[in-house]
Amino acid sequence: MYFENDRTNTLQRKFGILGQSAGVQSMLETIEQVAPTDISVLIAGESGSGKELVAAALHKHSRRSHKPFVIVNCGAIPAGIIESELFGHKKGAFTGAGSDRKGYFQAADGGTIFLDEIGETPLETQVKLLRVLEQGEFLPVGSSSSMKVDVRIVAASNRNLEKEVDSGSFRKDLFYRLKAITITVPSLRDRRDDIALLANKFANDCAIRNQILFKGFSEGALKVMSQHRWPGNIRELKNFIESMVILEKGGVIKTEVIYRYLNAESSPTELNPLLPVKLDRSVDQAERELILQQLFMLRREIAEMKGLIDEGLVPRKTGESNGEEYHTALEVLPDDHSNEIQGDDSITILNPQMLGTLTAAQVEKELITRSLERFNFNKRKTAQALQMAERTLYRKIKEYEIVKEN
Ligand SMILES: Nc1ncnc2c1ncn2[C@@H]1O[C@H](COP(=O)(O)OP(=O)(O)OP(=O)(O)O)[C@@H](O)[C@H]1O
Ligand SMILES: [Mg+2]
Repeated sequence: MYFENDRTNTLQRKFGILGQSAGVQSMLETIEQVAPTDISVLIAGESGSGKELVAAALHKHSRRSHKPFVIVNCGAIPAGIIESELFGHKKGAFTGAGSDRKGYFQAADGGTIFLDEIGETPLETQVKLLRVLEQGEFLPVGSSSSMKVDVRIVAASNRNLEKEVDSGSFRKDLFYRLKAITITVPSLRDRRDDIALLANKFANDCAIRNQILFKGFSEGALKVMSQHRWPGNIRELKNFIESMVILEKGGVIKTEVIYRYLNAESSPTELNPLLPVKLDRSVDQAERELILQQLFMLRREIAEMKGLIDEGLVPRKTGESNGEEYHTALEVLPDDHSNEIQGDDSITILNPQMLGTLTAAQVEKELITRSLERFNFNKRKTAQALQMAERTLYRKIKEYEIVKEN
């Protein structure tokens, strides 16, 4: 037993991945085994569970560590330009291609490319990824001769790719090629034993970084946190702890403080009396709850971003692609977010009576329809605001048969 803990401690330190639970231990062992090899790896796990951390550890502990680690969020790149982003293009390949351009694969030569949200890549691009995986070569857009690169591929998805294969949106051959080595990052609620360890670590780090006092959590406080669902996983826990440590400078953090912050988070869990979610909820109710949680998380992120913008820390508009500017989700919601639960725009979705009668799909349809209307049916802006891949949005519009009404 002592030996086992010792081994886990060593691996935790080595990879910067915390956790003592059985799920994390076996994950650390797999990382230890596969990191030094060139084998491609698929990382599966819910949002915020630590997939990027795993990918970075694989790169850092490989012979490629001194070469580039290129992170590509496949879900954030519009379908129309994804191939030129990944594989580069030749001068004149399309309007606006004024010169040759290197793609991410070339940029990662000798190192590792991390294809995050690989499930979001269009089917045509998936064929090309398979070719890179199998032969290490690809064709830049507009070029007639293929290029060879020495790149290790690590991919991640928070979707169930097996289901995507069944529904035809992910290629079977690519899936089988990728899944040979799969590292599944457990969700936080499947590793509740790790919550106290993580909470203390995040709190201590935050206190040191901000030079404030943190005296610890009461036992009750740790228990409440370890029973919470944490739909946003470690990312959510980390943000939660950091804001609490900063705002509660000083004393020991007790149970009631945790309850207060969990409620303020407006996360519709069993701990939150604001929302009509019963403990013995059905699958349908649980799905509705999930959608609501997404809504609330989005709302919180927007509020946080607004805070940063007000402080002048981030620009009003983010990124630029395809000549068209991307706008932040801030433009979707009214300026004052404080009353949103009661606000005109969200009342239909959050009204308890309606919740009782709507299915999860209806709630989602409603949310998408309203967002589309706000953006005058601009799909890219709507997808950004909903933090949903543009392709997913198209699929849902079709599925729900949402049409623009005049
Ligand atoms: N085991 C862990 N120990 C310490 N910190 C962790 C651990 N797992 C995740 N984190 C931290 O949690 C945050 C979220 O992790 P990460 O970005 O790797 O998640 P993700 O699975 O890639 O999420 P998404 O699907 O949303 O991209 C990061 O700040 C990361 O450093
Ligand atoms: Mg990630």
